[in-house]
Amino acid sequence: MSGNNEYGSFPGTRPRRLRTTPVMRRMVAETRLHPADLILPAFVREGIDEPVAIEAMPGVFQHTRDSLRKAASEAAAAGVSGIMLFGVPEESNKDGLGTAGTDPDGILQVALRDVRAEVGDELLVMSDLCLDEFTDHGHCGVLDSEGRVDNDATLERYAEMAQVQADAGAHVVAPSGMMDGQVGVVRDALDQTGHEDVSILAYTVKYSSAFYGPFREAVGSALRGDRKTYQQDPANPREAMRELALDLAEGADMVMVKPAGPYLDVLAKVADAVDVPVAAYQISGEYSMIEAAAAKGWIDRDAAVLESLLGIKRAGARMILTYWATEVARRLR
Ligand code: PBG
Repeated sequence: MSGNNEYGSFPGTRPRRLRTTPVMRRMVAETRLHPADLILPAFVREGIDEPVAIEAMPGVFQHTRDSLRKAASEAAAAGVSGIMLFGVPEESNKDGLGTAGTDPDGILQVALRDVRAEVGDELLVMSDLCLDEFTDHGHCGVLDSEGRVDNDATLERYAEMAQVQADAGAHVVAPSGMMDGQVGVVRDALDQTGHEDVSILAYTVKYSSAFYGPFREAVGSALRGDRKTYQQDPANPREAMRELALDLAEGADMVMVKPAGPYLDVLAKVADAVDVPVAAYQISGEYSMIEAAAAKGWIDRDAAVLESLLGIKRAGARMILTYWATEVARRLR
């Protein structure tokens, strides 16, 4: 009911009543972050004795095998659900085919075995399934004689990668190269090698983004050119639905949208459209922007970190890959 005074009418409805105290706000919150929502992406580098700080990602390191094991057990203790591993081979172990990516003794496979031995089933061990960290040209696939990324030749490499990653103990493999048909060949390769229970988290909707910049330093990539002939054009949300239909038909168990923050509209559409779990990847550039602005004193770091993650969850993500996973999981507990 509204009242009147000399200035006119009072509001009859007062939404502010539900914002009066922290407990009231907590009770009526429509979206909650939980440690189990979070997945930690982590880098492990071959041939180093000490972790190496990634300049463009303050607080993130290229791990040694030992420091990676420690990071994994800390993530598990904090209640994080998974760790997504990226291998950084020695420069001399890179070649045109990304051979180190399918070598059972390559850094990623070694790290998968280490982490699996460390955490067992307490943390989901996930692996990025892509060639870019292992190729000397930095592309996600192998090149044809004209220097173009050869889709079908790359699929054969991915099939082999899927098998060695699963053999090394991955619970989940995550094909991220945006090759046509990648989910199907990975599923077949897993099934034919006795890995029916290894699941596929597909990088389904992956845009060609400027925000991957800091990641290139993180994995020491010397990318020549760009990824515009295989990653999606940032202008296209409809095409995302096409990629989604294909990945589901090919057997994706979970699908991912990436980057997250600049693509919340796409994330919301994908989440509405499917009944499989949807992940979003808050990528390196999203991380670095907040850290950089906070270092300048321009934003409240801790509040901005939580708000950025809440926005991704609100848009429909079931799981979020974030470099802040362990820190945030601890804060939420
Ligand atoms: C491909 C891959 C990339 C990222 C995750 N998987 C790089 C790319 O596609 O250019 C980026 C992650 C990030 O920026 O945090 N192996």
